[in-house]
Amino acid sequence: MAFEEMWRDLSPVGRSASSGGYFRQPWTSAEGELRAWFAEECAARGLVVETDGIGNQVAWWGDGDLPGVLTGSHLDSVLDGGAYDGPLGVVSALAAIDTLRARGVQPGRPIGVGVFVEEEGSRFGRACLGSRLVAGATTWEEARELRDRAGVFLADAVAAAGLDPSAGLLSLDRVGTFVELHVEQGRDLVDRDVPVGLASEIWPHGRWRFDFAGQANHAGTTRMEDRHDPMLTYAMTALAANKQARLAEQRATFGRIAVEPNGTNAVPSLVTAWLDARASSNAALADMVAAIERQAEDRAGRDGTALVVTPESVSGSVAFDADLATRLAGLGGWPVIPTQAGHDAGILSDAGIPTAMVFVRNPTGVSHSPDERAETADCLAGVEALADVLAELTRSGNPA
Ligand code: GLV
Ligand code: MN
Ligand code: MN
Repeated sequence: MAFEEMWRDLSPVGRSASSGGYFRQPWTSAEGELRAWFAEECAARGLVVETDGIGNQVAWWGDGDLPGVLTGSHLDSVLDGGAYDGPLGVVSALAAIDTLRARGVQPGRPIGVGVFVEEEGSRFGRACLGSRLVAGATTWEEARELRDRAGVFLADAVAAAGLDPSAGLLSLDRVGTFVELHVEQGRDLVDRDVPVGLASEIWPHGRWRFDFAGQANHAGTTRMEDRHDPMLTYAMTALAANKQARLAEQRATFGRIAVEPNGTNAVPSLVTAWLDARASSNAALADMVAAIERQAEDRAGRDGTALVVTPESVSGSVAFDADLATRLAGLGGWPVIPTQAGHDAGILSDAGIPTAMVFVRNPTGVSHSPDERAETADCLAGVEALADVLAELTRSGNPA
């Protein structure tokens, strides 16, 4: 079965022997292998892959002047991520083309399969960087100055991967509609007892860097009342963020910190912590982040530390094309559900492209973790659903 073979081929790439999770960071050798794998799979189907100057890829089946339907997702992962977040959408897109061909479908408009780079923002901190650049939501002039944790500039990382941004970026001119299939990252479909759903909206979300500066000092000789300890300000801020989010039924997470000098027997001089916050509306998100910031400032005042907050990646709410979702949901009686996770589909939707998402049930809801799972039978149901969606959108005479 093509889906299972592709899945098997991908499974060792970037996999950690210790955790079983994936490290498929953009512009690394693991990602290079994934890009080559995608090109081979397309070639095996007689599709020619275009790779743009930063590594985004697309292959089109069919040509002609009608706007095409693009499907696909991303192949990069979060640090120590799961196998499904991203790759499921790419493998399912290729498998859906096989299914359409096996059904004898001749699409009345082109179908593209695409892969966007650095969707997770795991290396350069900007979520959906590849699709943002393609859609013009971020410029290369600004992005090239981003640095990874080792201080490498994006422009240098891209060049080191053998890519040349001056070759240009993918064009979205041919894209009339975008459909992204994705593993569900919650338990909505489990609770509804259905393998497949469609997306209604993406919650607004973002990342804010909190720099807490204090005074380095001796852990033994400095009296507790004489300290300016940024770890305390950070710790209280993490608790405050959790409380704010729980009270407002929103989401707030500090999942990453860096401490300087990071020594056991010294009060730190600097703690940098990244807040990931998500809420059900743009206003609720702004309110929650402002409340967390206020509490952090207040505590910094009492600790004698200094706080600087910098937004690093902010995405407003996305409402997917409701008519499109209703029309496609009707094909299988699938539920239409919201998500709190960001996706390239949100960027393309913001760019004015009618966009839909197909979700595949995740039996535990766990994601961004080595424990992320989907049953093979559900993945195959997802492929069938995607094939149905693509057939509907490309049937001669149908609107895309
Ligand atoms: C992407 O997966 C995100 O929501 O962080
Ligand atoms: Mn993800
Ligand atoms: Mn994803």
